[in-house]
Amino acid sequence: TAANAVNIVEVGPRDGLQNEKGVIPVSVKAELVTRLGRAGVKIIEAGSFVSPKWVPQMAGTADVLAQAERFPDVRYPVLVPNQKGLDAVTTLLAKHPASPPLTDEISIFTAATDAFTRANLNTTTAESLERLAPVAKAALDQGLRVRGYVSVVIACPYSGQVDYARVRDIAKALIDMGCYEVSLGDTVGMGTPTQVSEMLEEVKKSIPVEKLAGHPWITAFAPSTLPSAGLGGCPYSPGATGNVATEDVLYALQGSQYHVAGTAHGNGTIDLDKMVDIGWWISEQLGRESTSRAGRAIRAR
Ligand code: HMG
Repeated sequence: TAANAVNIVEVGPRDGLQNEKGVIPVSVKAELVTRLGRAGVKIIEAGSFVSPKWVPQMAGTADVLAQAERFPDVRYPVLVPNQKGLDAVTTLLAKHPASPPLTDEISIFTAATDAFTRANLNTTTAESLERLAPVAKAALDQGLRVRGYVSVVIACPYSGQVDYARVRDIAKALIDMGCYEVSLGDTVGMGTPTQVSEMLEEVKKSIPVEKLAGHPWITAFAPSTLPSAGLGGCPYSPGATGNVATEDVLYALQGSQYHVAGTAHGNGTIDLDKMVDIGWWISEQLGRESTSRAGRAIRAR
């Protein structure tokens, strides 16, 4: 049933790489996007149009989108923090008219605490929502889909335990400005299953569960935002230890009552072996080994 379908939003090219210290060539980032498409991933967050002063690693996202090989029925959302980011997307789409377009979706983001929003967006949460509302409207007006992220929904590395009612209100504000889905991020990865359930119970008072996604966990509900090889995390989240790897989730779903959305069973159209290879390939590009448990076990077979 639809309730058993898991939507995987692969964020490896964006969340997975944004925290890397060394410069990753555009060609490697574009190849990662290409390989993920080839493995059957249907939603690939390809990069972000943020300030290169804040996140140098994401410079060149326009070139990544232009260079990556494209696959039918694959969507390539990009992260946008402000009007300037949306303008860059508009410019790119005008420069490369293609059908389907290079991207048809932006992700906007804020956080459940002022301290985190200050660190990540240089403003308060309330101000960030005020700034994002016209960006979302402009994006919708030009036919783009808009997805939202709320960071630090359980605990904040700067201000501790988070008020779940605040998470609910912020997520609702993003839905009200036109986001078709909001991804709730346990950005530092501190949440226990009990805390995640309690937080969700609160958020579900205002938002139907079909409009919620989880990052980087999938314990309680369907759509999930994950990077291959378990790379990454937010550069403004001290203590974040990387994410749940997509290949580990695909492995865990095998034989379960859940399946990747749009497919009948198992790991569906996303090829687990190819994802394991991608996890190792990108980790080697970064000079390390894959930290994915399934990735290590399957390679050792
Ligand atoms: P600011 O310094 O207050 O902004 O930063 P500003 O308007 O003063 O601009 C500073 C400089 O950046 C200016 O350049 C702007 O032109 C430029 P200068 O005039 O000094 O040469 N600039 C831009 N350049 C390119 N694209 C843009 C852009 N905007 C300004 N869009 C700002 C405010 C929002 C820009 C900054 O804080 C920023 O870029 N933040 C993004 C941080 C980020 O990307 N974090 C990681 C992603 S979020 C995440 O990982 C969490 C998530 O995965 C979920 C989870 O894990 O919980 C989504």
